[in-house]
Amino acid sequence: MAGIYIHIPYCKQRCSYCDFHFKISQKDRPEIIKSIKTELLENINYFKNKEVKTIYFGGGTPSIINEKELEELIILIYQNFKIKKNVEITVECNPEDITTNKIVSYRKMGINRLSIGVQSFNNSELKFMNRPHDAEKAYTSITTAQQNGFENISIDLIYGLPNQKIDALRRNLSIINELKIKHFAAYSLTIEKKTKLFHLINKKQINPLQDHKVIEQFNLIENFSKENKYIHYEISNFAKQGFLAKHNSAYWENKIYLGVGPSAHSFDGKRRKWNVSSNKKYIEGINNKSINYFAIEYLSKKQHYNEYLMTNFRTIWGVDTKTIERRFGKTYKEKFLKAIKKWLNKNYIINEKSIFKLSSKGKIFADRISSDMFLIN
Ligand SMILES: C[S@@+](CC[C@H](N)C(=O)[O-])C[C@H]1O[C@@H](n2cnc3c(N)ncnc32)[C@H](O)[C@@H]1O
Ligand code: SF4
Repeated sequence: MAGIYIHIPYCKQRCSYCDFHFKISQKDRPEIIKSIKTELLENINYFKNKEVKTIYFGGGTPSIINEKELEELIILIYQNFKIKKNVEITVECNPEDITTNKIVSYRKMGINRLSIGVQSFNNSELKFMNRPHDAEKAYTSITTAQQNGFENISIDLIYGLPNQKIDALRRNLSIINELKIKHFAAYSLTIEKKTKLFHLINKKQINPLQDHKVIEQFNLIENFSKENKYIHYEISNFAKQGFLAKHNSAYWENKIYLGVGPSAHSFDGKRRKWNVSSNKKYIEGINNKSINYFAIEYLSKKQHYNEYLMTNFRTIWGVDTKTIERRFGKTYKEKFLKAIKKWLNKNYIINEKSIFKLSSKGKIFADRISSDMFLIN
């Protein structure tokens, strides 16, 4: 399993919570697209003849670029990599970009999955997040995509917003049901430094939602998924049978992926590579071999192990001591069995044969549990 991620670093405006890499000005867009193509061509041997199963356009806002630019990137990938027959091609879309024409051409160029950044169907929440779309556009963007042939649609929701009422979240979830959405991601709001939201909280102009209310919201989402037969296959991801995201799974299955574009990450099985989070430096680095535009880190055995715990505890598949023994050896398995005891005793973890998974209670503390079990270098 191998995947390609393409980062499109532009957004219409700055959402109050977001610290992903993007720019509002699109002045350098032709150069960025050209540099992304160059980076792809420089990596044609990256997968060593392995088939590419997934192609994912993320951002920023991939739906902001025009259809010709997107199609050229897809054609270049097809011409230079070995692409699996039923490859999953996802494009992250912001609702305000979705039109019938765009959707029709997306289908024609082979895109078969959309991830739509709805965030909420509530106008005051959308305003608070400084989203460019309103609730109505969020709704019609989905129906437009559905009416023009897209069944495999995921939507993103954010919960745990300051002052968010549980009923508002309940309404968001009921719209997911009404629209028969096959996949959704529900992200608990993270207060990232250098965002407007962080600033407002820091100045005490608003308060974050209290922990017990965030937990109540998480429980509501979990119950909703059970009642409506969504598979809760990763802490933030929910899918109807047959619609689990293939691309994201590569991240938690330790699979090889190539990330191109500013700020994109890659993993070749041994090394992680980070591209610089600056359009200017990225373009300069691609055009001038003496300027470096990325950093590389070789992961130690302990780092690989820690990553395995961190990603797999978040999933429905859990952590398998057979995998630990096969990948890291017997001593690692013994260390794991010793460290997991306290979490088992607290019922944060459930154990079946060699598999250890988070209980419903444990899911709320996923990252705390895995980091507690990390091995230090
Ligand atoms: C980086 S965005 C790109 C997609 C697209 N531009 C959009 O906004 O819909 C991917 C998703 O990350 C989530 N996200 C970004 N910042 C977040 C934060 N601070 N807390 C929780 N979720 C966040 C949002 O749900 C968003 O849809
Ligand atoms: S959430 Fe999406 S649209 Fe908003 S700033 Fe981040 S990447 Fe851009």
